[in-house]
Amino acid sequence: MSSVSDWEVTNPVKENRAGLIGKGVERYEGPLKVTGAAPYAYEVEPPSPPAYGVMLPAAIARGRIVEAEVSAAEAAAGVHLVWTHKNVPQQGVKGARAHPRSTAPARPVLENDRVAFFGQPVAFIVADTLENAQAAAGLVRLTYEAEAASVDFQAHMSEADFPPNEQDTQLGDVAAGLANSPVSLDETWTTPIQNHCQMEPCATLAWWEGDKCIVHTSIQMVKPAQHGLAETLMIDRDAVHLMTRYIGGGFGGKGQSYDDLALAALGARALGRPVKVAYSRQHMMHGTIHRPATVMRVRLGAERNGRLTTMSLMTTTHCHRDGNFTEHASNFARSLYAAPNRLTGHRLVYLDLPGAGPMRAPGEASGMLSLECAMDELAEKLAMDPVELRILNEPEVDPETGKPFSIRQLVRCMRQGAQTFGWEKRDPRPGRRREGRWLIGLGMSAAIRGNFLLPAKASFTVDAMGVITVRQGMTDIGTGTYTVLAQIAAETLGVPLGDVRVEIGDSELPPAPGSGGQFGAATAGSAALDAGMNLRKAIAELAVADPVSPLFGGPTHDITFQDGFIAIANRSERLAELISRNRPEGLTASGEIRPAADARNWSQHTYGAHFCEVGVDTITGEVRTRRMLGVFAAGRILNWRTARSQLTGGMIWGVGSALTEGNAVDPRYGSLINQDLAGYLVPVQADIGEIEAIMLDEVDDKANPMGIKGVGELGISGAGAAVANAIYNACGVRVRDYPITPDKLLAALATRGAA
Ligand code: MOS
Repeated sequence: MSSVSDWEVTNPVKENRAGLIGKGVERYEGPLKVTGAAPYAYEVEPPSPPAYGVMLPAAIARGRIVEAEVSAAEAAAGVHLVWTHKNVPQQGVKGARAHPRSTAPARPVLENDRVAFFGQPVAFIVADTLENAQAAAGLVRLTYEAEAASVDFQAHMSEADFPPNEQDTQLGDVAAGLANSPVSLDETWTTPIQNHCQMEPCATLAWWEGDKCIVHTSIQMVKPAQHGLAETLMIDRDAVHLMTRYIGGGFGGKGQSYDDLALAALGARALGRPVKVAYSRQHMMHGTIHRPATVMRVRLGAERNGRLTTMSLMTTTHCHRDGNFTEHASNFARSLYAAPNRLTGHRLVYLDLPGAGPMRAPGEASGMLSLECAMDELAEKLAMDPVELRILNEPEVDPETGKPFSIRQLVRCMRQGAQTFGWEKRDPRPGRRREGRWLIGLGMSAAIRGNFLLPAKASFTVDAMGVITVRQGMTDIGTGTYTVLAQIAAETLGVPLGDVRVEIGDSELPPAPGSGGQFGAATAGSAALDAGMNLRKAIAELAVADPVSPLFGGPTHDITFQDGFIAIANRSERLAELISRNRPEGLTASGEIRPAADARNWSQHTYGAHFCEVGVDTITGEVRTRRMLGVFAAGRILNWRTARSQLTGGMIWGVGSALTEGNAVDPRYGSLINQDLAGYLVPVQADIGEIEAIMLDEVDDKANPMGIKGVGELGISGAGAAVANAIYNACGVRVRDYPITPDKLLAALATRGAA
């Protein structure tokens, strides 16, 4: 299955004989999770009692450790070891790859006396209990020599420059386009630093079996973690057996490994016993990555009839000076609206804050908070409906590349959403709908997020009981991977769901890229389908060659797989009987997916439309989301239940980014002031009100053999803009500085006399 034409052959996912594809099958691992039988890495039962490691975070943003006084910690009760850069075991050199094909380089811990960010682990303490390790960590005395650190994004904005190897994309002339447009807009939006706040922090449990390091960790991508650890430990890659069976959220924050991984492995090797290490909630905020802050300037120009002449989105953002991660908040705009004059690009400021990195829908999640509010402002200036303005500027081909869209149902998402939500009841004049002290408003936004397919492998085995086992080095970060792989296997081999086992999250299984960029289900599923097709072929060949089988001598291409039986015309046999007779040890087939050669010929995205109703309390400035509706077009949906959870979860996150989320930086220490869930506010159940996600019927045949795409990042894209636009419609206040907290609204409400 390597080209689009190959995908036209018999395709059990498309035939969907048992109706399992798309069905809201309940989670494969659900019973294990609710009974506590699905352990996270830290909870896995090791072969012997573990010791507990604690990381000590650095207390300065930049500088050197000049003195490390550890004797009190070493002498404390139950302490097994105390490491700083002075006595940590030797490791691979940072960035080095001893194996040229390693998917990640060495990532040494406690590497030297340098401190590069607040919260960088600078000492490691292992004790017999977590409490003893924590107590001993408090006895480590480090003396720092602090250096001047750049931690204030706004203050360093003038240093912003192009990210490495990146240029703006430009068509026409934005300045002239704006000057010649009868209606125009030039406004700036800002978003703060945000954190993933996964329910499960990053954590590792490691032990050694001879020369082999057994490690359970919480990670989105298996292979890079395995390879990076082997490089760090300076051992063969096969000497690391890495498992990540159940994961309590990733969102991009676990797309890479952190110091818990190597410290647990090194500690376990040094002590000859299992060692577990977890980040605390506070340490997660600093010791891992965050979504960086952005400043986004949007310029729009339009004819009086609403046709865009000019569209520009320029983003300035920041990352750690040792990296070059760029929040690509302008990219989505390149494919969203038609306009002859266009300019999009990014500028980057290097800071000494903790590392910036990807967080759910990197790019779109921030970027759509600006452009999609700018479109709302423009619609008002034009006295047009925001939905109609967007439809009017719908491109026929990708406006920058000229490539055709694989499929684009954005207009249908908006129309169906408007109708279902009751959009026609919206009064475009703000502040007209009042219920007591509350002002009520409606807002909407478009949604777009790219679609990706990566190379992956998988294997399927059928055993003598007719049970299918799917094996793949894939991850389930809470998204439903186990479940959709089981559905694909059951549909492909025609067995009941209960006869499928799924084994994922293990470096010794066929490699898959893991979860990220909403490519997981499409990538892993496509490889699984190929393995299933190859197993069908192997089973068919076995049956027609077996004189005992009723299918003996039949044509293999006429074989059907259903209800645990294989059949040719009216001759059939139980799959388990064929296998137990011929292959009692089981029959295995492998499969793989590679992106098709012509995949780049299409502009391929997932789309949606968000609608939101808010109430704004005129006395307190509090915003309540009362109703939210998202309508999405994201290819064939494998499982409406898990897909809906992804989409509504993303929408809820959009509410957080609009109203509450953000880390404030303490400029004295380069730290984040609000560092737990009491200070970093994420929406909870009671904050959300009614919420629904609708998925349109769609098959994207340019995407992959199943015609599916991803939904994990689409739901957040644009959701916060719909909230912000609803706030404006409710009370007539535009806040372009996220999050839209009551203090910002109150000041404006008071001057408008709305309160
Ligand atoms: Mo993602 S934020 O690409 O896991």
